[in-house]
Amino acid sequence: MTWSTAGGPGHTRGDGAVSAHAPAKVNVSLAVGPLREDGYHDLQTVYLAVSLLDTVTVRRGEGLSVTVTGEGADGPDPVPTDRRNLVWRAAELLADHAGVAPDAAIAVDKAIPAAAGLAGGSADAAAALVALDALWGTHATRGDLTALAAQLGSDVPFSLAGGVAIGNGRGERLTPVLARRPWHWVLGIAGGGLSTPAVYAELDRLRAEGRLPDGAAFPSPEPVVAALRSGPVEALAAALANDLQAPAVSLRPALRRALRGATDAGAAAAVVSGSGPTVAALAADEDAAVRLAAVLAGEGLFRTVRVVHGPVPGARLVG
Ligand code: C5P
Repeated sequence: MTWSTAGGPGHTRGDGAVSAHAPAKVNVSLAVGPLREDGYHDLQTVYLAVSLLDTVTVRRGEGLSVTVTGEGADGPDPVPTDRRNLVWRAAELLADHAGVAPDAAIAVDKAIPAAAGLAGGSADAAAALVALDALWGTHATRGDLTALAAQLGSDVPFSLAGGVAIGNGRGERLTPVLARRPWHWVLGIAGGGLSTPAVYAELDRLRAEGRLPDGAAFPSPEPVVAALRSGPVEALAAALANDLQAPAVSLRPALRRALRGATDAGAAAAVVSGSGPTVAALAADEDAAVRLAAVLAGEGLFRTVRVVHGPVPGARLVG
């Protein structure tokens, strides 16, 4: 095959479809600074991409269309299939950047629950960028795609990059970290989502009332990075931290019991992932993760549980 790995017809299937995967993320640590004038917060996070993947399949079409299957496709608050879906905006942005017509039928097959603190929407946007780049033959560089990703959302550049990275700014400024040791987690997924802006607003409110420290100084990410690189599990367990956990628990008090339930069931530690409400429970190894998942599934603290590992790569073409 002589086509470039960036895409082109070498990645289209017989039916003209192109698919890409992108992973969920866990914030192993997340320190949030004060509210900025633009409505965002400066933060410092250590992102870990984990093996829960959404798949985006794109085909030539007239105009844009989006369909969603899997997690969040049905129910009272389904994932939107119009311009509110980040894949729609990703398609428009890439088409504009490349000077092509935004013509594509986009099918999103979700394993990552929506509004769960796992960057599911960001994963879909990153996968859409990679798949559409191949479908349209736009030959965007990785740097181009990263710049477009940052316009789409704070977590989208990491969904594109995958692996382990320190995130600064809104989360979009990444410093990749080489940490190949696999870590095993159980994700405890709740029945309903939490709105990310609402969790940040609750953090601001609790800080304004003096009930939480103001977040003016970020701790060094080095202990987290060192623990991720080489362990032992106790070091990583001790390093898990999330400034959005207290506001997420404030909005969803049942989370307190869920976090305690995860450690009581044998997790080395448990933390809310991002803005929640997913609980990321760290296990000593893969067997321990499977056992932990079985206990947690039996207790009914979560709608569902998933055993995952990370780091895994970011958005990439399938096949
Ligand atoms: O960047 P993204 O669109 O994913 O952010 C969603 C919302 O989360 C923002 O509108 C903002 O309210 C909040 N946010 C924040 N600070 C960040 C990232 C997100 O306040 N660093």
